[in-house]
Amino acid sequence: MFVPGSASQSLAAALAAETDRPLATPEYRWFPDGEECAAVPGFSGDDAVVVAATTSNDAFVELLQLQDAVREAGADDVTAVLPYMGYARQDRAFEHGEPVSARAVARAVSTGADRVVLVNPHEPGVADFFDCPVDVVDAASRLAAPLPGDLTEPLFLGPDESAESLARTVRDAYGAGDTDFFEKERDYDTGEVSVKPSDADVAGRDVVVVDDIVATGSTVSEAVEALHDRDCGRVFAACVHGMLVGNARTKLAAAGVERVVATDTVEREESDVSVAPALADALDG
Ligand code: R5P
Repeated sequence: MFVPGSASQSLAAALAAETDRPLATPEYRWFPDGEECAAVPGFSGDDAVVVAATTSNDAFVELLQLQDAVREAGADDVTAVLPYMGYARQDRAFEHGEPVSARAVARAVSTGADRVVLVNPHEPGVADFFDCPVDVVDAASRLAAPLPGDLTEPLFLGPDESAESLARTVRDAYGAGDTDFFEKERDYDTGEVSVKPSDADVAGRDVVVVDDIVATGSTVSEAVEALHDRDCGRVFAACVHGMLVGNARTKLAAAGVERVVATDTVEREESDVSVAPALADALDG
């Protein structure tokens, strides 16, 4: 039985439909003091697949509660699907005294899961932090289909070096174009991002900036700004996890991004493509 976290209801429903398996209807109740009690009164069966993007602290606690609730209700095999794994960006202690947040989160999830499935975690190495088997799904190839089919000499651009392999995956799935990457620096005190462009010739070419996450939109919009004096054509952004927090949409539009293509790992009304088929394959594999 699929059990949705409150932030992953559409994806869990899509997965249940894709795999022809039942979907539980949890109750997400809140006590007056702000604590949640996520319950699964209708749960039955031995196997539970809890689908919960940990996009917030509340969503993370809710995932732990749902894992516990299905065990209480009789499940003896629990898979946790984290379409988006929060805290994965803090995969090391960057300064003395900092936590390895990804490890702390992974250990907590492992206490209630027999298996974990992740979709494009920010750093692949975070999979090793779990104390149970982990499957990692790469959904980047799905980002090609929603892009216009008539891009002119497209350049798939990673805003930093680590995003170039994602850009390559999208380019390969699109079937045309080149890849390149910029050098990115972020001031962690101010949050400001600066991007050093490559010498790619983009004149007259359409550009797709590809990243794993678009959160505040600063990274992609800085990359796009860096292209402005180069006479490029249309500009798109493509990401697996479209967090799009705060004024990200406006920032991207103001920078000249025509459209942001994203999957449904983070629930939004305008997701372009679902990771449900890829997750279904991983769960059945
Ligand atoms: C960071 O290394 C990630 O790959 C993304 O570039 C980053 O999380 C995007 O965040 P924002 O949209 O806030 O710049």
